[in-house]
Amino acid sequence: MTDKTRPSNDQESYVHRYGGAATKQVFSGRTAEKHAAFFLPYLKPGMSLLDCGSGPGSITAGLAKAVSPGEVTGIEIEASQVELARENAAKLGLANIKFEQGSAYKLPYPDDQFDAVFSHAMLEHLREPVLVVKEMRRVLKPGGIVGIRCANMRMRLLAPSDETLDLAYEIYLKYRQHCGGNPAFGRECRTLLREAGFTETIGTASCDTWGTQQATQAFLPFLLDELTGSEIRKTAIEKGWADQTQMDKAVTAINEWGEHPDAIFALVWFEAVAWK
Ligand SMILES: C[S@@+](CC[C@H](N)C(=O)[O-])C[C@H]1O[C@@H](n2cnc3c(N)ncnc32)[C@H](O)[C@@H]1O
Repeated sequence: MTDKTRPSNDQESYVHRYGGAATKQVFSGRTAEKHAAFFLPYLKPGMSLLDCGSGPGSITAGLAKAVSPGEVTGIEIEASQVELARENAAKLGLANIKFEQGSAYKLPYPDDQFDAVFSHAMLEHLREPVLVVKEMRRVLKPGGIVGIRCANMRMRLLAPSDETLDLAYEIYLKYRQHCGGNPAFGRECRTLLREAGFTETIGTASCDTWGTQQATQAFLPFLLDELTGSEIRKTAIEKGWADQTQMDKAVTAINEWGEHPDAIFALVWFEAVAWK
């Protein structure tokens, strides 16, 4: 993923595959009620809202319901995700939502435009997230609210675990870093807001869990893709993080985890809100 609007030293390559299980099995199933729970109490009907890195737009759709009849805009760098989000919103019959293609590093909006600006699961993928948060602040009206939520991939429970599974997960963290992101995101949420110019911030944390057999089986294609897909496999072998046999063993270990009757995956997320 390259973009001329980004700083020249910013060489991110997005870690998830757009057409893969990440979008289909995980991101499309996200909801504002769950994933923006920290932000919803501050939203009111009639507010204008911008969602940065809106992906397939399922959270954006929930935000649109919360501020209706206020207008919601989702901005997303990848054309296929913009298209998908538009299709999903049309299916829901939402009239107060639109999706645009563009980079959050250079938001195509004037200063002081939105009552609320939101971003979920994007900043932890970026090399220079503070530049994006400064942009988010720029387009926010004075008195407007910003809300961000980012996963800390290091703060997780994957159980029952074994050595192969743990090694596969460690390789995944290295890979995310290699792609430009920060897998240990956490305190950065409040720090980023402050560094971008916000003064009063509120930080919280919450957890996503997959802890039923139905949930872990549904999560399995995502985990297989993320931890053992072709790109990560190629990079891991090239970099000497693992060999072919270890990557094959990881596939078996992940499949066994997904089918285990006691399997659970839990992941900690950090959140922060602030006002301009
Ligand atoms: C992990 S997905 C999260 C999608 C959605 N917010 C959600 O939580 O379901 C991150 C999204 O941010 C998008 N993205 C990455 N860098 C971006 C940028 N500079 N500007 C806009 N979108 C970006 C990616 O294309 C991807 O769709």
